Amino acid sequence: MKTFADKVAVVTGAGSGIGRALAQRFAAEGMRLVLADIDGEALIETSETLSAEWGYVRLVVADVSTAEGAQRIADEAWDRFGGVHILCNNAGVACAGAPVWEQTPETWSRVLGVNLWGLIHGVRAFVPRMLADGDEGHIVNTASAAGLRTGPFVSPYYASKHAAVAFTEALHFDLLLAESKLKVSALCPAFVKTRIADHSPGFPDAMRARVESGMEPADIAQRVFEAVRDEKFWILTHSEFDSLIRARCEGMLAGENPVPHVFRRPE
Ligand SMILES: NC(=O)c1ccc[n+]([C@@H]2O[C@H](COP(=O)([O-])OP(=O)(O)OC[C@H]3O[C@@H](n4cnc5c(N)ncnc54)[C@H](O)[C@@H]3O)[C@@H](O)[C@H]2O)c1
Repeated sequence: MKTFADKVAVVTGAGSGIGRALAQRFAAEGMRLVLADIDGEALIETSETLSAEWGYVRLVVADVSTAEGAQRIADEAWDRFGGVHILCNNAGVACAGAPVWEQTPETWSRVLGVNLWGLIHGVRAFVPRMLADGDEGHIVNTASAAGLRTGPFVSPYYASKHAAVAFTEALHFDLLLAESKLKVSALCPAFVKTRIADHSPGFPDAMRARVESGMEPADIAQRVFEAVRDEKFWILTHSEFDSLIRARCEGMLAGENPVPHVFRRPE
């Protein structure tokens, strides 16, 4: 997409962190915004930070892990603004650190529900209508560097983010073969300074410190904006993780057994 002013962007998880920064970045381009989050107060806080024209922001309290929630966000977007050009399926949660066999069914449901089903419901609610409108557009799914490499103790998060990357790549292929005007990006950051630890019950303290010293959300939002403008699929924001991703791929092709990068269960 080359022009942004007056077009419509939808951001889920817009009440905090990366989603709030995406809303701010798109508002700075003069876009109309549909901002969704499960936390209504957080959404209002986000709206108060925006430099948007009067009437350009619609807030929707919705749970993206449900088909009904995603559908309601889409209905609000078309009712209010008549279309959607950028869809950021960004809402996500993490989890406590524990071995695979100790992660509870509730944790698996919550993490896969938001991080994977949130993308599935988002694409099902928006993409057919975007295709029918026939405009150019872009879908950005927030995955993670945890979708490109794995490790011990947070298997629900790794599994959800690997699924998010695969889902997003498949969406890219399907839209290409359908000769649509819709482009796709997979956002794969490592640590970003957000409130994900507060929103994820049992989030390990050791990881919290890495999030708190992570990249600024505004820098991630700038990279997303550039990827949409330049039609780039991969958005890998933390180059210090490149060697780990490369080592994993090379080890796989060489038939080597994976080795962990941490050895103790996080507190
Ligand atoms: N912070 C990091 O280090 C990091 C790294 C890689 C990827 N990510 C990913 O970035 C995305 C955004 O996370 P963040 O770090 O900004 O966290 P955050 O907790 O600051 O923001 C996430 C927002 O999503 C909302 N949300 C949670 N569940 C929801 C649901 N079911 N429906 C609607 N909204 C919901 C929360 O209320 C919150 O406002 C997530 O997908 C996360 O996995 C974060």
